[in-house]
Amino acid sequence: MAKSRKSRVKGFLLESSSPSFCLRISYLCIFLTLMNSPQQATGCYTPIFAFGDSLTDAGNYLELYPHLIPQEKIPHFFLPPNGDTYFHHPTGRCCDGRLMIDFFAEYFGLPHLPTYFGGKNKSSSRNFEYGVNFAVVGSPVLDISFYEQKGMVYPWPYSMKDQLNWFKDLLPILCRSSSCNELKQRALVIFGPFGANDYNNEYFGGTSREEIRSLVPLVAQGLASAELIEAGMETIMVPGMVPDGCLPQPLSSNRDHPTTTGCIGWLNDLMISHNKMLQKELDQVRNHHPHASIIYADYYNSAMQLYHSAQEYGFNGRTFIACCGGGGPYNYNFTAECGDPLTTSCLDPSIFVNWDGAHFTEAANRWMSKAILEGPYTFPRITTSCISSVACDGSQLHTS
Ligand SMILES: *[C@@H]1O[C@H](CO)[C@@H](O)[C@H](O)[C@H]1NC(C)=O
Ligand SMILES: *[C@@H]1O[C@H](CO)[C@@H](O)[C@H](O)[C@H]1NC(C)=O
Repeated sequence: MAKSRKSRVKGFLLESSSPSFCLRISYLCIFLTLMNSPQQATGCYTPIFAFGDSLTDAGNYLELYPHLIPQEKIPHFFLPPNGDTYFHHPTGRCCDGRLMIDFFAEYFGLPHLPTYFGGKNKSSSRNFEYGVNFAVVGSPVLDISFYEQKGMVYPWPYSMKDQLNWFKDLLPILCRSSSCNELKQRALVIFGPFGANDYNNEYFGGTSREEIRSLVPLVAQGLASAELIEAGMETIMVPGMVPDGCLPQPLSSNRDHPTTTGCIGWLNDLMISHNKMLQKELDQVRNHHPHASIIYADYYNSAMQLYHSAQEYGFNGRTFIACCGGGGPYNYNFTAECGDPLTTSCLDPSIFVNWDGAHFTEAANRWMSKAILEGPYTFPRITTSCISSVACDGSQLHTS
């Protein structure tokens, strides 16, 4: 059941500055946006739209849960110590604290994005002025029916396509309250990571390596659909997969043994071929839509850098062992996951890379988000030159 990866207020960074200064910078931003060469991303991002799985879900599944077919037990990530580090209570995030999407929002001077299902009124644009998070725990790229037709039980209710449909429902509402063209120009879409659930469900279901590999083109093509661009979005960041072969969850299954790197080699190779194919697909989308700025974010190699140099970056816990879990060599137990009775947490999550066997700690999320926004891991490089204007908008929100 819970074997597939749950695949995954207010932190204004700025003090207020004078309104006229803000205004001027805003004009400059819009001007720069219009002047930009096609492949160049801009730094003026409001709103931010986030899609994904449990690496990005900040509470949608928690909000949806009462309306779903009840499970045998409360999902473990609804329980402490999930959320303890930052929010001091569980929020539906599979983490001790903030996710990468939270750090991205903070970086751009925005509040943490509200979840689509957490907002009080989905027909009102007021909740979503600075962005929306559509991500749901367990979302695969391919439709749930694809897996059901194969005779599999798919344990999570919503797919990538459902999230796109929610977005399409919301867009006209957002457009009612602001200029749609301007909104589309200023928006940043963070589309993923997606795909972990497609592969994990098969992996833990015992599907052969060959058959799992044969999914890669389908998943990569599904991910690179141009739907959001056709809906008018101009800047889209599409992350690749993280090295799932380094996670305590597969390392704890009896299916495979780690190579000398400490990770499961063929599983990481699968992620690499997914990422290669995804980039090829994105090239095609770029060719068809030269005006759009499509940024590939290399989560794989940024995570690898973290794993390789963990000590150097202050992660003195054991790199491949979960902070929170139900015991075993990797502190991961399929029948007792972080939050379940009889599980325990490390004393200091900030020195661990892995939180619960399948997801990063807040500390690792902070490191990763900085690596993505400031490091060499985006193609073309995501530019953040307009951050001050976005922050001005944030300080205006502060006072109104
Ligand atoms: C939600 O917002 C819309 C648009 O502002 C409004 O027409 C509607 O009455 C609101 N619904 C509720 C339940 O408040
Ligand atoms: C995993 O958890 C179950 C249920 O709590 C327990 O019976 C089992 O001994 C645990 N396994 C390990 C390796 O700790």
